[in-house]
Amino acid sequence: MWSGMGADFGDQPTKRGMQIFCVLLLQLYAAPARADAPLDYLFGAGPRNVASLTWGVLTISILVVLIITGVLLFAIFARRNRIPSTSSNERELVSRAGNPVAVIYAGLVLSTLVLFGVTIWTMMTLADIAAPPSTPKVTIEVTGHEWWWEVRYVGDDPSQTFTTANEIHIPVGEPVAIKLRSDDVIHSFWVPALSGKTDLIPGQINTTWILADRAGTYRGQCTEYCGLQHAHMGFQVIASPKEKFETWRKGQLRVASEKSVGSAGQRVFMQKCAVCHTVRGTPAGGRVGPDLTHLMTRGTIAADTLPNRVGYLSGWVADPQHVKPGSKMPRLNIDGQDLAQVRNYLETLD
Ligand code: CUA
Repeated sequence: MWSGMGADFGDQPTKRGMQIFCVLLLQLYAAPARADAPLDYLFGAGPRNVASLTWGVLTISILVVLIITGVLLFAIFARRNRIPSTSSNERELVSRAGNPVAVIYAGLVLSTLVLFGVTIWTMMTLADIAAPPSTPKVTIEVTGHEWWWEVRYVGDDPSQTFTTANEIHIPVGEPVAIKLRSDDVIHSFWVPALSGKTDLIPGQINTTWILADRAGTYRGQCTEYCGLQHAHMGFQVIASPKEKFETWRKGQLRVASEKSVGSAGQRVFMQKCAVCHTVRGTPAGGRVGPDLTHLMTRGTIAADTLPNRVGYLSGWVADPQHVKPGSKMPRLNIDGQDLAQVRNYLETLD
């Protein structure tokens, strides 16, 4: 892009400067750049007023910098030639017309008014987002583990409750209540496009809420340093229309499909994996790692670290410590045949 535009630049330095500024501005707004920044909070899909406040304060700050720079440059250059040159031994009496202190008072009043306005605006926005706009119909309990997210949908009765991991599905346009706990250290829940940060603190339940006003996949990230794989503690929030969300929810309520029961892969899974992972409807009931009952409905594995595709899945099972050193999933020294069978079994968990 740069080399392509370089030829168009004019010769005058100011014109060139303006063009560079415009290109930078365009790049800020450019859609491809935004796609490469999944943690971008400037173009949120959450409560509108937060984005308005962000852009409002940003615009005011830029204006303040421009005005102060202008006044400063005026003070430096406009009066420079008015002071007559003197020889080094002579003292020049400097006098100013009018009341120069008035300028300082004016500046004080102006900046106080601007800051006061911004404070009121911020407090109104904070009060607005303190509670969801309506009572949430969906409640999700999110538990932070080193280094993945347990996601539990709490229904009205136990038959409507299920657990998944690292992927939070929500209906579009509806507030969703989130209860946050931690199993070990302090983590922090952050979906930049949808909400601010809320910590997950051991021995305490924190609450927050999210709302997506349009369908899409929003990247979430642990934002409190929590050890070796903090950076690989990501998740996704998938907002879809109500019917699609309901279809997904009903799918997750099912126990594992029968097609793999009794397979060679299931036998290897029971020996090697079941002590840590649950597959509902089978004897596998471990609680150390993610619930794998519907693993194949997820887009990523290892807390948004790898795409959920055959090759990555095999590589992850074969040597998790290569992908996420320090993670609780050990290297099992599984041989090629067992690995293929376990992978075939995992692929039936849809
Ligand atoms: Cu969990 Cu950082």
